[in-house]
Amino acid sequence: MRRRTIQYLVLLFVAAVSTHLYFSAQSSSADPSKWLEEDDDDDVQIPIPQRRLSADVPKRDAIVAAFQHAWSAYERDAMGADEYHPISHRGTNLSHTGGIGYTIVDAIDTMLLMGLHDEYTRAAAWVRTSLTFDRDGRSRCFNTFETTIRVLGGLLSAYHFSSDPMYLTHAVDLADRILPVFDTPSGLPLTSVNLATRRGIADALVSTAEATTLQLEFRDLARLTGNATYWHKVEKVMEVVERARLPSNLAPISMNADDGSFARSEIRLGSRGDSYYEYLLKQYLQTDRTEPVYLKMYEDAMAGIHTHLVQTTPTQKLAYIAELMPGGGDWRTSWTLHHKQDHLVCFLAGSLMLGATTAGARGGAGRISIPPKERHVSVPPKAGELTDRGQRDWDVGVRLVEGCMETHRTATGLSPEIAQFRSQENTGEERDWFIKGWRQGGPPPYDARYMLRPETTETLFIAYRLTGDTRYRAYAWGIFEAIEKHARLPGGGYATVLDVDTVPVRHEDKQETFFLSETLKYLFLTFADEDVLPLDGAPHTILDTGAVLTMD
Ligand SMILES: *[C@@H]1O[C@H](CO)[C@@H](O)[C@H](O)[C@H]1NC(C)=O
Ligand SMILES: *[C@@H]1O[C@H](CO)[C@@H](O)[C@H](O)[C@H]1NC(C)=O
Repeated sequence: MRRRTIQYLVLLFVAAVSTHLYFSAQSSSADPSKWLEEDDDDDVQIPIPQRRLSADVPKRDAIVAAFQHAWSAYERDAMGADEYHPISHRGTNLSHTGGIGYTIVDAIDTMLLMGLHDEYTRAAAWVRTSLTFDRDGRSRCFNTFETTIRVLGGLLSAYHFSSDPMYLTHAVDLADRILPVFDTPSGLPLTSVNLATRRGIADALVSTAEATTLQLEFRDLARLTGNATYWHKVEKVMEVVERARLPSNLAPISMNADDGSFARSEIRLGSRGDSYYEYLLKQYLQTDRTEPVYLKMYEDAMAGIHTHLVQTTPTQKLAYIAELMPGGGDWRTSWTLHHKQDHLVCFLAGSLMLGATTAGARGGAGRISIPPKERHVSVPPKAGELTDRGQRDWDVGVRLVEGCMETHRTATGLSPEIAQFRSQENTGEERDWFIKGWRQGGPPPYDARYMLRPETTETLFIAYRLTGDTRYRAYAWGIFEAIEKHARLPGGGYATVLDVDTVPVRHEDKQETFFLSETLKYLFLTFADEDVLPLDGAPHTILDTGAVLTMD
């Protein structure tokens, strides 16, 4: 079976938009009225550096030029198409009835951040004249999660940055077409939806990350429209997951849509699992830390990760996150470790650091009684500013960045889709990490590819902002240079590299939408002036993140 890899990520900015709200408190575990009715000047407090981090102008501009190289090729060859194939210079759509703005809508907020007015004007004109969600997806082509994070998330970000109501109108239209997927016995969303007929497409199993990576977008829409329906649909999902929890507080990657239980499946921070953990923290931050239920779920899950999944290699002492395979007997409690880490897992390093400085912040001088929103952490955090858990998460986050960077020590400087680590079971390996099935001159295994993914660049952006340490800029620049050297096509666009450990490289004919909307965005933000997107600022900022999943 062919593996189709999909990935998403949006930067979702919750801007100060005044909304008139009229919710009454409901008996859900999280209460929309607290956050939705809050004053807009109640900002999320994220660490404030003593001195603003300023731009590295030549590097920042080189990244903007890369965005233009990628976008202009798409615009020339495939404007309006959902996906872009830069070697054959063509576009394809998810539905045979036409596109839903997959690439364009996803890329708009990056254009606005980069100040690319001409590109933005043309993209906005396309949205104005051509975007429609009246697309028949008979062949199961609209994935609920991908459509939400790339298109709904893209529209909301575009709206926050531009204040153009056209984006909000489209967002409401799209969300209303997606809503029927939540009409299941459990409340878990169906995997696919036909946007034209507004029907979810039944499937026995639901990916955990997919079900739990819709909340930021739908909740933001609830806030913008004043309509709590969007909140309650996605909040219900969190309640179902909370009820299904295992003793380890880790989440297997599949759930049953009918009864809302976990299905016998792997536990991993990679494909189909990743953004469950990421969104726990981001939901807590998005709601201005007014929802202890997300904090509790986040803290419990991080404790489970520390207890069961954090590993260290024997020689180089590299930190990585292993996976668990369900064992015999009662699979809910019996598991075997697999020493394998998807590139996707590298999001966790930055997420742990962000969590440490927010959820894990002490009041300063040990005064833990200070309300969460008034806690400040220095850049970088000083001794005593973090709780014990916060310090634990910070330390592992910092070590994981190094582990992820170690997987960039390849012939290209790019990291593979999946890395294996040396352990008791495979002591025959010479290196502490390796690519399964790779051999010199052999056909490249699936694991060896780099598909322009953003997880490490997001982590480096967060790490740089929270520390001000230029080592993270140096890492990010190394990745950018490797992308320029090996993934850039002279005829326009960038393509997936099939084997990161062989030069010269071969490409696959695909430029993923997340390269424009995430990878280049985080690289840009790492080298831009901090004021372009202050993490501590008003309008308050929620970084949504990227989740990715691999589907069979
Ligand atoms: C994809 O959809 C867009 C927008 O509807 C359309 O302009 C384009 O022709 C379609 N491309 C293909 C290959 O069908
Ligand atoms: C909120 O949105 C839902 C879904 O679109 C809709 O059915 C409902 O009428 C809306 N409620 C209000 C008060 O506008």
